[in-house]
Amino acid sequence: MLKEIHEQPQAVQTCLAAYVPSLKSAPRTPHPTIFPAFPATLNEVHILACGTSYHAGLIAQYWIEQLVGLPVRIRSGSEFLEASLPMTANTLTIGITQSGETADTLTAIALDKQRRLAQASAFQPRLLGITNQPDSALSKLVDWTLPTLAGTEIGVAATKTFVNQLIVCFYLTLELALSCKAISPEKIQTYSAEWSTLPTKIRAVLELETQIKHIAQEWGNRQHCIVLGRGISQAIALEGALKLKETSYLHAEGYSAGEFMHGPIALLDAHIPVIAIAPTDSTHAAMIANLRKIQSHGSPIIGILTEDATPETATMFDHALILPAIAHPLSPILSVIPLQLLAYHIAVQRGLNVDKPRHLTKTLSE
Ligand code: M6R
Repeated sequence: MLKEIHEQPQAVQTCLAAYVPSLKSAPRTPHPTIFPAFPATLNEVHILACGTSYHAGLIAQYWIEQLVGLPVRIRSGSEFLEASLPMTANTLTIGITQSGETADTLTAIALDKQRRLAQASAFQPRLLGITNQPDSALSKLVDWTLPTLAGTEIGVAATKTFVNQLIVCFYLTLELALSCKAISPEKIQTYSAEWSTLPTKIRAVLELETQIKHIAQEWGNRQHCIVLGRGISQAIALEGALKLKETSYLHAEGYSAGEFMHGPIALLDAHIPVIAIAPTDSTHAAMIANLRKIQSHGSPIIGILTEDATPETATMFDHALILPAIAHPLSPILSVIPLQLLAYHIAVQRGLNVDKPRHLTKTLSE
């Protein structure tokens, strides 16, 4: 797991090299695998995925809704059988799965495809797969596949495949924004420039490892922990809590910081640490206000901040992990990494086999 966490700068570099040129080229030459056949009219996007891939889907939902303006519905593959998404017209359905073999996700996509095939042309399936295994069962089900190019991932905990799913989802967002004329070519250039700084910025985040190891030593024996984020960071709170649970067996709950105030705050006392993902974005002021309230109940707080946070903000935390500043929508790609490292170091400190957590296999294919 640690090796794979440290492979992230290179994995991201490889993925960017494959996708960014098609965005930058003028006249545009869209990605050859998907966009020549991409539907001209699109009313909606649906996303089906499980676990960490579901969290990538939540971030894709945020990006597509905020940057393209298309409505996005997302459902866990494991829920689709009982509660399918409405069968809307002109809909792109995206299946996200690292392995391309997760039974819950594949079953959901197959069901959606089957029910749509019997309908009028506007309702026909338009299926896109995002996967690290382009030769998997997923690719046989869908019309187009976008590979995440993360290289082999052996650890049960998804790390580099998650970050590369985010790269591909952001690429897809920009392609959709261009085809819907929701974004200017100049803005695309700005994002492309920002994107190319990611490998260097990820390396800078990995340098926080010694500090994170100390935090793991100080707090790793706690029974419970809360992970909070607002806006786009909510999904990273869920993902960080999942990493902590599956590798270190620490009971961690991921929450929207705003929602946390509506009841769960009653859980807090001085024994329950809170990890707060608080990049300097449009949610920052509200996040800090929530955290001040939380602090008044005695809970220790680890802040995951960006370097453009004010010095007063940085000093309010028991520990502050400072990430490089990055254009607001891309912050999840950096903020998940300290949580991966924390989960790893707590697990190691507890003497656990991080690569093979109990009760889990890499792929739930049945
Ligand atoms: O291969 P998939 O992405 O479809 O797997 C889905 C989940 O089982 C998977 O992400 C799981 O949550 C990971 N072990 C998380 O680290």
